[in-house]
Amino acid sequence: MSLKSSIRTIKTLGKGVVVGIPEAAADHDPVELFGEWFQAARESGLYLPESMSLATATPDGVPSVRMVLLKAYDERGFVFYTNYESRKAKELEANPRGALCFHWGVLERQVRLNGTVERVSHEESVRYFATRSRGSRIGAWASKQSEPLSERAELEDRVRRYDAEYPGDDVPLPPFWGGYRLRPESIEFWQGKADRLHERLRFERSGDGWRTTRLYP
Ligand SMILES: Cc1cc2nc3c(=O)[nH]c(=O)nc-3n(C[C@H](O)[C@H](O)[C@H](O)COP(=O)(O)O)c2cc1C
Repeated sequence: MSLKSSIRTIKTLGKGVVVGIPEAAADHDPVELFGEWFQAARESGLYLPESMSLATATPDGVPSVRMVLLKAYDERGFVFYTNYESRKAKELEANPRGALCFHWGVLERQVRLNGTVERVSHEESVRYFATRSRGSRIGAWASKQSEPLSERAELEDRVRRYDAEYPGDDVPLPPFWGGYRLRPESIEFWQGKADRLHERLRFERSGDGWRTTRLYP
C-alpha cells in the first residue's frame, strides 16, 4: 500500500460508525489530520472528546499520568490549563517534556503525542481564564491543587473567602494558574481495524516538515 493510500485508509476507514470524516486530501500535515479526527470525535456525541491523558515525569524518570482538557491547538502545539504549583506543573518545570493520549472509543481511534512543554504567554492565560465561569475562576483561586487537604470544609472555606474577595464578575487570573503548550515532536494516529490488524501511522518532526512511518499494530 502506498503511503498516500495508507493515509487515506487511516483517515476514512472506521468500521461504519464513523460520521463526518472528510474524504482524504492526501496531504501529510498531522495537525490538520488531528483536526479532522477531533471534529469527528466531537460530532460522534462522545462525552468530553477534548479529554486527554497527560504524562509527565520527574527528572529521574518517575512517570505520572492524569486527564486534562485540550483547550486549543494549532501548528505551535496543544494547550491545557492547570495550577502551576500542582504535581504535573512541578514535574514539567523540572523536566519540560510530556506526552498526551486521546482515546475516542466509539470511533476506535487513538492519537498519541510526545513533545516539549512550555508555559503559554501570560496574556493567553488571562484571555482563556476570562472565558471560564465565575465558579470555575473562584475554584481556581481556592484550590491548592495537589496539596493535602485535611477536610472538605477547608476547601469550602477557601471558596467562601475568594467569593467574598472577588464579589463581582471580575475574578482575576491567579498568579499560580495558567496554560502549558506541548509542542509535538511526534504524533501517532491509530485506527482500529478487524482482527487486530489496526492501522498506525507516526509523524515525526523533520526539519520544517514531518517524516511518516507506518508501524505494525
Ligand atoms: C476528564 C477530566 C478532565 C480534567 N481536566 C483537567 C484540566 O484541564 N486541568 C487540570 O488541572 N486538571 C484536570 N483534571 C484533573 C486532573 O486529572 C488531576 O486530578 C489534577 O490536575 C491534579 O493532577 P496532578 O496532581 O498530577 O497535578 C481533569 C480530570 C478529568 C477526569
